[in-house]
Amino acid sequence: MVSAHQEQGLRVDGVAVADVARALGTPCYVYSAASIRDAYRELDTAFGARRHAIHYALKANSTLAIVRLLKGLGAHADANSMGEVDVALRCGFAPHEIVFTGVGKSVAELERALMLGVHAINVESPGELDRLDQLAAARGVKARVALRVNPDIDAESHPHISTGLRDNKFGVPIALASGLFLDMTRRPGLTPVGVHVHIGSQITTLAPLAKAAEAASVLARDLCAAGVPLEQVDFGGGLGIAYDDTPVPERTAWVRTLVEAAGATDLTLAIEPGRSIVGAAGLLLSTVVDVKHVPGGRRFVVLDAGMTELMRPALYGAFHRIEPVVVRPGAPEPADVVGPICESTDRFARDRALPPLAVGDLVVVRDVGAYGAVLGSTYLRRPLPPEALVDDGTWTTIRRRQTLDELLQLEV
Ligand SMILES: Cc1ncc(COP(=O)(O)O)c(C=O)c1O
Repeated sequence: MVSAHQEQGLRVDGVAVADVARALGTPCYVYSAASIRDAYRELDTAFGARRHAIHYALKANSTLAIVRLLKGLGAHADANSMGEVDVALRCGFAPHEIVFTGVGKSVAELERALMLGVHAINVESPGELDRLDQLAAARGVKARVALRVNPDIDAESHPHISTGLRDNKFGVPIALASGLFLDMTRRPGLTPVGVHVHIGSQITTLAPLAKAAEAASVLARDLCAAGVPLEQVDFGGGLGIAYDDTPVPERTAWVRTLVEAAGATDLTLAIEPGRSIVGAAGLLLSTVVDVKHVPGGRRFVVLDAGMTELMRPALYGAFHRIEPVVVRPGAPEPADVVGPICESTDRFARDRALPPLAVGDLVVVRDVGAYGAVLGSTYLRRPLPPEALVDDGTWTTIRRRQTLDELLQLEV
């Protein structure tokens, strides 16, 4: 997707990112539609003849144009909030193509999802089952429920994005699940439709994903054998991408692992990938606003993008490749690449070997298509940055830069 060009510098699918920066200013997100399409199709194809559903996890990137692109490819949607449910609806998803997840759904949110008739509400606790049952029974309808199980499996990812251990707040212990499913079949307001599991994000080995998928599949098959008429087993998302040079499992290998774990079953195999579809498709364009050498100490390269535009380094110590758009001649030297925000965590890289950089140079931060723009904030009254989508050799603005007036318009 990203290629180098001697004079005009980095390109995304043939488009010079310097042109985008000139038109939209920096900081600015740039995405490759081709990269998103390729990733989606790879997952889709890997299922072969198995009945499956790919619920794109909007939490990774819910910019309307990106969500519409995925809808056009045949994706279904995984929404983690009512806001995301509404974004999915606005992007053309029918309610029966949306699953609604979330560890703390309010009664109002449950009621809305119920009345919309979403494909499944991924329920996280016995208390939520009770609330949903009461809501549905009172309205004379049935809620389609997938129970999120917690298999107590270590995703071997960053602790802040691991969700499958018993100490995590997510799901119900898998040992309790059979009893809850059997109970559901006797409730007036509930229709159990599936088993759901999601053990974390940025998972870079298949073993924990396979273990979780096997646990969910065994449960689902046993329940079917016991007469609980399930429709699907949902393996969640979680496959990591290669932020550095460490190899990660291929998307195809992930799907094959899940299909194998599912065994002989007619259940629909569902997944909820986010990062593995959009992560590598995005970059953050930024301009160097200062370079300073502390005598005898560090070289700081200060960008106009910071933790307000890209939170992942501050939040998880996440690694992102950083490259100048046009490489100046000279030997690489270590630098701390930091943002302009008054927080010491506002640092994209420490001791990173980078070619010479001067004020005004453009740089890109790679692999920010997932959990990038969506985690942005307006801290320090910094308006949200624009986003551009490159498709078929041209680019369009898919979100313009927020103005200060827009940022302040809710206030008196
Ligand atoms: C329930 C659920 N499904 C899917 C995802 C998407 O995960 P990823 O972006 O790692 O594929 C998440 C994110 O953590 C999630 O919480």
